[in-house]
Amino acid sequence: MSLLELKDVRKTFGAIEALRGVAFSVEEGSVVGLVGDNGAGKSTLMKTITGVYRPDGGDILFDGLSLVDKDPGAIRQAGIEMIYQDLALARMRDVAANIFLGRELTRTVLGVRLIDSKRMRAEAEAMIARLGARIPSVAQMTGQLSGGQQQSVAIARALTFNPRLVIMDEPTAALAVREVEHVLDLIQTLKTRGIGVILISHRLTDVFSVCDRIVVLRQGAVIADDATRDTSMNAVVAHIVGATDAPRQGAHP
Ligand SMILES: Nc1ncnc2c1ncn2[C@@H]1O[C@H](COP(=O)(O)OP(=O)(O)OP(=O)(O)O)[C@@H](O)[C@H]1O
Ligand SMILES: [Mg+2]
Repeated sequence: MSLLELKDVRKTFGAIEALRGVAFSVEEGSVVGLVGDNGAGKSTLMKTITGVYRPDGGDILFDGLSLVDKDPGAIRQAGIEMIYQDLALARMRDVAANIFLGRELTRTVLGVRLIDSKRMRAEAEAMIARLGARIPSVAQMTGQLSGGQQQSVAIARALTFNPRLVIMDEPTAALAVREVEHVLDLIQTLKTRGIGVILISHRLTDVFSVCDRIVVLRQGAVIADDATRDTSMNAVVAHIVGATDAPRQGAHP
């Protein structure tokens, strides 16, 4: 059984058919690259998986159980974490506070519940170390970290929920070359832990270096779904832009 199985998923916004019967699967411990032009439906599909939108048709099975009637909280509880492009981190708070944002660890002193900063820092440090993320100190203000380091914080935060599937929307778009490699290493770490990953990216070199499969969406439909070793950059680009295999005549008059 696949970890995630999408079956004929449909979603319309008024007259716009954003998803026209999307179907593909994600296995445990595998990375699926989801690519497609602007407006292809990638974000809509992810929001449909995470319960932000309810599909108009089709089914979404996670571990064989349907997610379509569940709300975002229940879907997260089931084990799906989404890391958004803007990361949703609190820039003015330190790394440890961000990792535990909204679920702060507490201790009780004389009947009063207090935030346990010491324990949060210790656990945050352990998590960063296990992940192999390069963050100088968990006491550092998150807004002062580099883009790649902030991405690592978002991944560490997602892992505190013990997810089985992590969805990442453009995690490398704004990063310097060395930082890109680091984030791709982190994705490999998730994979070796048996976590499934959906990686949305316009950067095909990143997709080819880290994904096991590549799914191409075009105008709300899957037009290619191949093992990475069975496809090529040229083929994927052609699918994305909707070119045919035949060379276009008269394209450059
Ligand atoms: N809330 C909405 N209301 C109406 N139309 C929407 C809504 N969200 C998305 N759409 C439309 O659905 C289509 C798919 O959009 P979506 O954001 O999923 O594309 P995308 O593949 O994520 O693109 P990008 O690479 O630019 O992020 C587009 O035509 C878009 O205009
Ligand atoms: Mg999008």
